Amino acid sequence: MSHRYLFVGPPGVGKGTQADLVASEFDIPHISTGAMLREHVAAGTQLGQKAEVFMEAGDLVPDTLVVAMLAERIGCDDAREGFILDGFPRNIPQAEALDAMSVQLDRVVALSVSDEEVLRRITGRRSCANGHVYHVTDNPPQVEGVCDVDGLSLFQRSDDTEEVVANRLLVFRASTAPLLEYYAAIVTYVDGLGSVEEVRSRVVQVLGS
Ligand code: AP5
Repeated sequence: MSHRYLFVGPPGVGKGTQADLVASEFDIPHISTGAMLREHVAAGTQLGQKAEVFMEAGDLVPDTLVVAMLAERIGCDDAREGFILDGFPRNIPQAEALDAMSVQLDRVVALSVSDEEVLRRITGRRSCANGHVYHVTDNPPQVEGVCDVDGLSLFQRSDDTEEVVANRLLVFRASTAPLLEYYAAIVTYVDGLGSVEEVRSRVVQVLGS
């Protein structure tokens, strides 16, 4: 059985948190275009320099840049048996690009919570440079401001301000939500409200493990 999954949903709904857990469970890679782009920005690559201005504003990075990056990643050996896509495709042209790569998804998991909960989760999120994610009240690190895994300092993402989140929500509704219709035959809607463990067990049930 192949495990080619897409996790989709508004910013901060918990896609990355759930994708990490489920990817470990199925022993497949968690492929997050947001995380890959942030690595490019941090490393100051050409791609990172081009992407940064869009990310800071909460807009989508141009399709040509993201599709090329994703195509290279999905072609890696570790993705042969499956993967969880988190943040790609983000619009219909990207979904068509995935089709053109002959990548067929087995299931799309659509997570949802209210806009108020999105804002609460995002403004409370803290991350380390290696991408480990916490929440100040719901999932705090053992030592305030320090990553449990690698001891690095925790910071707030620059696109996690109220103003940028408002734009990210608009972009989600305008560009990403139409994917739910595009993938209607394979979408399962999952309530993203509840503890991380509660949501994980709902997702795993959908994926049949
Ligand atoms: P990206 O990184 O993909 O951002 P996003 O989709 O907005 O999603 P987030 O990472 O903000 O949230 P999440 O749903 O993963 O939530 P998380 O698990 O961290 O993209 C960033 C930018 O990159 C985009 O704006 C765009 O510019 C660019 N980009 C990326 N992909 C692109 C593409 N394909 N095309 C073009 N541009 C692209 O959880 C959030 C918080 O909530 C955390 O603090 C967490 O601890 C907490 N939490 C999680 N689950 C729960 C729970 N059940 N209960 C309570 N708290 C919880």
